[in-house]
Amino acid sequence: MSAPVIARAAEILRAGGLVAIPTETVYGLAADATQGRAVARIFEAKGRPSFNPLIVHVGGRDWVADFARTDERFDRLAHIFWPGPLTFVLPRRAACPVSELVSAGLPSLALRMPAHPIAQEILAAAQRPLAAPSANISGTVSPTEAAHVTASLGDKVDLVVDGGRARVGIESTVLDLTGPVAAILRPGSVTQEDIERVIGDVTTAAADPAAPKSPGQLASHYAPSVPLRMNAPHAEGREALLGFGKTPGAILNLSPGGDLKEAAANLFAMIRALDDPARYQGIAVAPVPLVGIGLAINDRLERAARGR
Ligand code: TXA
Ligand code: MG
Repeated sequence: MSAPVIARAAEILRAGGLVAIPTETVYGLAADATQGRAVARIFEAKGRPSFNPLIVHVGGRDWVADFARTDERFDRLAHIFWPGPLTFVLPRRAACPVSELVSAGLPSLALRMPAHPIAQEILAAAQRPLAAPSANISGTVSPTEAAHVTASLGDKVDLVVDGGRARVGIESTVLDLTGPVAAILRPGSVTQEDIERVIGDVTTAAADPAAPKSPGQLASHYAPSVPLRMNAPHAEGREALLGFGKTPGAILNLSPGGDLKEAAANLFAMIRALDDPARYQGIAVAPVPLVGIGLAINDRLERAARGR
């Protein structure tokens, strides 16, 4: 990315503006987390309920100590998975300079160091923690390309920084470390097995989407404008079939070779491409296996299938 774009992004952020930034998971709608008014603009632009807290993005592991209390589990996991798609929910420090709006009044804070080089450059230039939810209208399909951001938020953003297609394609794993047992609040590409290998037993709230522990895991989320149906071997009526592996009749295929990482990277862009009420009355999605990152894919599909 050219140096002037990075400098401009940092300048806008420090002045309290909104910048859409690329990350390896999805595009984020970023604001300086220490400025309450800037953070309020995020909620306003997205139409996001203010009880749903935001993730704070940091430029290094050493930034965390100013904001939250860490423990050995954090040290070991961050050493392996940062920078990357793992968000930690940690107890907020009393002197934490991050706006109360970011954590929606909770005594905890969600923190992540993104792996995308442009996100890192912007954090380094701004030298501020950045609150950044996905850069889309609340409840709709998350953006994995700069064009998705422009289509969804348009002139509500001061700058959209184009960093190409998001490599991972679904949002970070959210891991709650505020209690004695680590809990996955939102499944992502860093899986339960990945985490258990490092710190032992981890519980998961994701197995029961009806009982969300993370305020952001609202039932209606990721929803296209046409109905979406999961575990569909074939299309019915004027549905578009979204395949996985060998799927005869598929209009698009998440991964013809059955690769779950490729499927995650394609998920949101393909749902967007098939969300075309003039051509299709719905989207039927072929079964995606419930293993590894397939859990996160099915989690997003379940929410999308519940509609708006
Ligand atoms: O990959 C990602 O995480 C992307 C990119 C831009 O980094 N960001 C993202 O942010 O997905 P958002 O705001 O769409 O999702 C944040 C999630 C929500 O489910 C929210 O409820 C949860 O994290 N969260 C944030 N702070 C929390 C807290 N203190 N306690 C529990 N959950 C929290
Ligand atoms: Mg989101």
